[in-house]
Amino acid sequence: MALECAINLGLPNAIHRCGGAATLPDLLNSIAVPESKKAHLPRLMRFLSTVGIFSVDVPAAGEHGNGEATGIYGLTPVSRLLVDEVGPNQPCASLSAFVVSQTTKYHVTAATHLSEWFKSDDGAAAVEMPFRMAHGTDLWGVMDRDQNMNQVFNDGMGSDTKFAMDFIISNYGDLFEGITSLVDVAGGTGSAARAIAKAFPHIKCSVLDLPNVIHTIPSDDVVEYVAGDMMRSIPPTDVVFLKYVLHDWNDEDCVKILTECKKAIPESGGKVIIVDIVVGSHSNAMLEAQVTFDLLMMVITSGKERDEHEWRKIFMDAGFSHYKTRPVLGFMAITELYT
Ligand SMILES: C[S@@+](CC[C@H](N)C(=O)[O-])C[C@H]1O[C@@H](n2cnc3c(N)ncnc32)[C@H](O)[C@@H]1O
Repeated sequence: MALECAINLGLPNAIHRCGGAATLPDLLNSIAVPESKKAHLPRLMRFLSTVGIFSVDVPAAGEHGNGEATGIYGLTPVSRLLVDEVGPNQPCASLSAFVVSQTTKYHVTAATHLSEWFKSDDGAAAVEMPFRMAHGTDLWGVMDRDQNMNQVFNDGMGSDTKFAMDFIISNYGDLFEGITSLVDVAGGTGSAARAIAKAFPHIKCSVLDLPNVIHTIPSDDVVEYVAGDMMRSIPPTDVVFLKYVLHDWNDEDCVKILTECKKAIPESGGKVIIVDIVVGSHSNAMLEAQVTFDLLMMVITSGKERDEHEWRKIFMDAGFSHYKTRPVLGFMAITELYT
């Protein structure tokens, strides 16, 4: 919540505007907090610099007096990813919107139900996730009834996807070689499909998502937007692309989704590209992020983060014959799935 607070107060942008190094008075001049709250900012900055979100250079004791009050705050590799403007009214790609989309009141309230959910045992009628216990429906149901949440979540996913796709297209462009059509299934507002269509204009790209998501997207000539349900039908295509979709669903639903994907692609030459977490696929430094995401999935969805063994079982149960998986940026992995 401190990270969300830093973003909503505009602290990463404020440090950036000061040339990457800002004192407390600089920050207070740059962000909107009333006089009565100004004395609390050093406490927030002390926490955020202690956990590595910002850096702080504190003059040696005795030189200028009291620690944080005279410190100079800077951006770290983490908070550089949160700067969302290069200049006034000049937005740039950042992960701020993604953080905000994962720390909504719906997420936080759901997390407070975790222990109650663990202790409840209603047999077959068991509520499958704390999110439903808190809100009476799943995340997609909440997005359908709350337009603001719909926008916050879609913007967040879009920012993460833009960031990831720039990297994937530059470094793993071979994924898209030799294909003429691609459907980004549960592709949100189409960031991935638009990035692929821009980099490979000969590929006909479409996005399939729920009506409440598709109806928010202005139409363009680049990508086709299709409102539908991936559990029921996926338009025919060379390649299905699935980013951060299967981890939202339990094994049975994943098999159902992948079975629809298999029906949509040709028996020979088709494939499914999955961008998701494979627990244990990276160094230990990434394991903490991967298992943190698994807890997020436990709270928010009926899904989970899976290790390679768990993924393999789902792939085989859906009737695929082989796959290739490789770790990529951060904690993500790319898996190509063949019929
Ligand atoms: C975690 S988001 C991922 C969005 C996108 N792939 C990305 O990474 O930016 C999951 C998406 O699944 C969509 N979704 C959920 N249930 C669906 C269904 N039955 N059919 C199609 N899309 C669905 C949601 O609307 C949401 O956009």
